[in-house]
Amino acid sequence: MESDIERAGRLMLASKHVVGLTGAGVSVESNIRPFRGPGGLWTEYGEPPMDGYQRFLANPKEDWEQRLSRGGYRRELYEALEVAKPNPAHYALAELEELGVLKYLITQNVDNLHRAAGSKEVAEIHGNFSKLRCIQCGSRYEREEISLEALPPHCPRCNGVIKSDGVMFGEPIPSDILRICEEETSKSDCMLLVGTSAFVYPAAGFPQEVKRRGGALIEVDPYETGITPFCDVSIRGKAGEMLPRIVDYIKVKPQRGESST
Ligand code: APR
Repeated sequence: MESDIERAGRLMLASKHVVGLTGAGVSVESNIRPFRGPGGLWTEYGEPPMDGYQRFLANPKEDWEQRLSRGGYRRELYEALEVAKPNPAHYALAELEELGVLKYLITQNVDNLHRAAGSKEVAEIHGNFSKLRCIQCGSRYEREEISLEALPPHCPRCNGVIKSDGVMFGEPIPSDILRICEEETSKSDCMLLVGTSAFVYPAAGFPQEVKRRGGALIEVDPYETGITPFCDVSIRGKAGEMLPRIVDYIKVKPQRGESST
């Protein structure tokens, strides 16, 4: 009986343009809590207001002061983000890229752990917590480049207001990032979903798009999610345990066109 790990590996090897889509679950084994489900931050603190960005625009100074005071969920999340290290799931995805099997990786995580694990072809659709971004010209800066003495900080290039690079609820995804994600999704004939409840759009629409065009979906998650019924293979387990097994299978499996004898 072929295992789900083998089926997932064979499906990825048979595909031409595998794209990964990761969510908070891939970083749970790096001690960053997910947002929803068991142990979720929103499960404990409640979902933040859906108009977070409009509130920021209405009073950026106040929003920055709240952000820096680290009230509510922010203290725990930021402290976890500041000390987090990649786990075997992040390294497995970086290795799949190196093996030429994974062509691109879209992450909803702001934790920078995919890059820290060595992934190169990465789009951070919800931004990166170690960066800041100008809401006028879109320029991004490393946190250390911008003084937070006067709030809100302003862009050294265009004097626009600067916010964290993390995409707030109600904020449009920066067009440069959204374009790349849509391009890679449109080329994809197989999407590997890891640790996402596939609940938040536009990211949740990407696997549906791949499926609509006849592509395959592979999921790795300890629990069933909203996308499970549409998946060709749905592996119940932790990303840090399951992804290295898929890599091991792929590494021993003859590549396309190579004979097994
Ligand atoms: N390995 C794999 N998946 C896991 C693990 C694990 N060790 N632990 C939990 N999960 C799964 C959960 O079962 C759940 O399906 O990860 C998923 C996490 O879902 P969410 O918490 O909803 O995270 P995500 O899908 O990334 O949320 C999307 O919502 O709140 C916003 O901006 C935030 O980027 C986030 C977006």
